[in-house]
Amino acid sequence: MLQPREIKDGRALDLKVAVFGLGFVGTSIAAVWLRAGAAVEGFDVSSERIASLRNPTSIDFEQAVEEAFAQGLATGKLQLYPVGSAKSEASVKFVCVPVYLSNREKRADLTFLKGASSSAGSALKKGDAVVICPSVPPGTTRSVVVPLLQNASGLSAGSDFDVIYSPERILVGRAVEDIEKRYPAIISGIDEKSLARAEALFLKVAQKGVIKMPNLETAEFEKLAEGVYRDVNIALANELAMACDELGVNFWSVREAANSQPFCNLHMPGLGVGGACIPVYPWFVAHAVKESATTIIENSREVNDSMVDYLVTSLLTNFKVGDDTKISILGLAFRGGVADSRLSVTYRLVDLLQKEGITRLKVHDPLILKDSRLGNLLTQDLDGVLSSSDIAIIATDHKMYTDYQWGSVKRTGSKLKVIDCKGLLIGKEFTSLDIFGLGYGDDHNPRIYEKVVDSA
Ligand SMILES: NC(=O)c1ccc[n+]([C@@H]2O[C@H](COP(=O)([O-])OP(=O)(O)OC[C@H]3O[C@@H](n4cnc5c(N)ncnc54)[C@H](O)[C@@H]3O)[C@@H](O)[C@H]2O)c1
Repeated sequence: MLQPREIKDGRALDLKVAVFGLGFVGTSIAAVWLRAGAAVEGFDVSSERIASLRNPTSIDFEQAVEEAFAQGLATGKLQLYPVGSAKSEASVKFVCVPVYLSNREKRADLTFLKGASSSAGSALKKGDAVVICPSVPPGTTRSVVVPLLQNASGLSAGSDFDVIYSPERILVGRAVEDIEKRYPAIISGIDEKSLARAEALFLKVAQKGVIKMPNLETAEFEKLAEGVYRDVNIALANELAMACDELGVNFWSVREAANSQPFCNLHMPGLGVGGACIPVYPWFVAHAVKESATTIIENSREVNDSMVDYLVTSLLTNFKVGDDTKISILGLAFRGGVADSRLSVTYRLVDLLQKEGITRLKVHDPLILKDSRLGNLLTQDLDGVLSSSDIAIIATDHKMYTDYQWGSVKRTGSKLKVIDCKGLLIGKEFTSLDIFGLGYGDDHNPRIYEKVVDSA
């Protein structure tokens, strides 16, 4: 693996980059290049997004991004434009828009990628490079993006401009650190010249160096394989946790002990998998192939997607919930510690409960303050929901729930039932609470997923 040159930290770098798509990923990439000393042009289709980015303290940025944007705007190193209002002059153009799934067929929706590729292409000059960052079905860069770049520019990929595919490997909340310090950059090019350009470019920012992939498709697949690995392993953890419950075995003790062995990495079970990445990538793989089996991949998706249905069945049967039961769901974010609710399993839990006529619901999240789908179901008053609910379901492993003084919950009537789907209260006991948990294996309490285990 190659090592990068020293990060320039604020000193001028004779490079201008453009970033098309200024969401979570695009702003992080823009920040990294600003920190390396480059000038950055940012483009987004949303004028509102551009307006809010001009006031970076108004956005829920990680600190390094906020600082880089504030400094970049103050020094003029960062210019922000709604797409179409200015022509990109940068010699390196990053395309950072998301590829989501169509709702019904679970096929990749390339609308944003096509739009941003055309915008980047229309400003291409000979000698420029285009870097494609989103996770995509294998073959997308070559068969979809490159033709759009060529059509929009009238130039030829390879001979006139370089094409690089480099997937983002970042976690919400620590993206700058991930890019600069934590992971090597995965890079690929449409030809050797593009790959060499990618190497020179990424070594300016990635302290862990680069991993050169043999072609675009291998790099595209690598990113998907990372997500599939996580999804399949979470499904495995979910099945093992349910099996433990049936057998009266504590999954959390099993997991801790098993993971002391270096070849075992049991993941965390839970209510399923949310976020813009892990639940999406398995479908990019499954739909890309015609002859190869994707049984484990698709079954894992099914297991993870069913966890919420299992819980609702169990609430109705084991916990006897009805339309007068007050339920609070703790956590809207798809993962603890982030304010991101994309594809959160909590939405599905709310929908299914409402469909069953259970409407006395509240959703608590310490980091997400507003949500257009949930409206006034969302609250930040944890003490209030816990004192007034009959059942509280821990859906997200927010630190606040681990640190909460559960013994201080004030109740007037019956005990609060807590259903812990993230193993946060394992081994704890409080007189005012009845605690049930996924994988607790406690034969004194109804199993959360008893029905499913019975029918499996
Ligand atoms: N979010 C993550 O944690 C993460 C991590 C690794 C990789 N990724 C990948 O990165 C991609 C980008 O994700 P994100 O989280 O930044 O998305 P996002 O939804 O936060 O932001 C996307 C932005 O692109 C803009 N946009 C849409 N169409 C455009 C166009 N034609 N031209 C310019 N701007 C346009 C939108 O207005 C929005 O501001 C995803 O496909 C994902 O696979 C995401």
